[in-house]
Amino acid sequence: MMQLIDGKRTATEIKAEIAQTVTEMVAEGRKRPHLAAILVGHDGGSETYVAHKVKACEECGFKSTLLRYEDDVTEQELLESIDRLNADPDVDGFIVQLPLPRHISEQRIIEAIDYRKDVDGFHPVNVGRMSIGLPCFISATPMGIMTLLERYNIPTRGTRCVVLGRSNIVGKPVSTLMMQKAQPGNATVTVCHSATPDIKEICREADIIIAALGSPGFVTEDMVKPGAVIIDVGTTRVPDASRKSGFRLRGDVDFDNVAPKCSWITPVPGGVGPMTIVSLMKNTLLAARRDIYPD
Ligand code: GUN
Repeated sequence: MMQLIDGKRTATEIKAEIAQTVTEMVAEGRKRPHLAAILVGHDGGSETYVAHKVKACEECGFKSTLLRYEDDVTEQELLESIDRLNADPDVDGFIVQLPLPRHISEQRIIEAIDYRKDVDGFHPVNVGRMSIGLPCFISATPMGIMTLLERYNIPTRGTRCVVLGRSNIVGKPVSTLMMQKAQPGNATVTVCHSATPDIKEICREADIIIAALGSPGFVTEDMVKPGAVIIDVGTTRVPDASRKSGFRLRGDVDFDNVAPKCSWITPVPGGVGPMTIVSLMKNTLLAARRDIYPD
């Protein structure tokens, strides 16, 4: 009964589609899409994410630029770097990898990015436009989740969807998209967080659970209705002496015990993660083509 949602395979397919489009653009004499990334410090997770983004650019035929700064970079230096990227006509879109060191205001950094180049979809203009259903850059993880539901023809209309977590990056935007009058969407959404009592009872009513709290194995078998759809956004590094890296990724779902009860479930790794990267590539292509914000 249980079927795996293969994010890795879907992401590979979409990258091939994007690469084909880029080949056509270049054949028409247009420039290659160009994504830039700002990386501050040497956080292991951030290093890995940014390396995956650079590699995905190569696979899609994009140009990429990585700008690195040390942990002691000032907010002013970062703001100046952002101004240069905003003004550079060769750069179609760029991201500032989060989290940033504590002495830097993430919100000030995000708001300094030209919303027309904000391929992360974190700028208030893009967040606001998404919330009222206007064309915009949709942040990569929520978009990756919606793309999986779409490509796997998983019904969402009229379903009960429970979102675990209310972060600006995942929980809030994915709950907005799931309730939107759209396909996929049209679900009845409940958002649970650290102050929610009776999370187990609420989850048991869910047709779709989107787990994005960063708490390994939080969703257990007793919280899942038979036949439910489970989307696991968790990617916590847990120690694992048998790996040469010394860690492995664990999702927010107790996969081994939950999977047999589900209709569909995303694995970790190989589920939402690869879709997040490919959604950033899709946004970069949209930016290069000026599809969302024509000049
Ligand atoms: N940190 C965690 N997720 C993301 C993301 O999607 N974009 C950026 N820039 N930083 C992140």
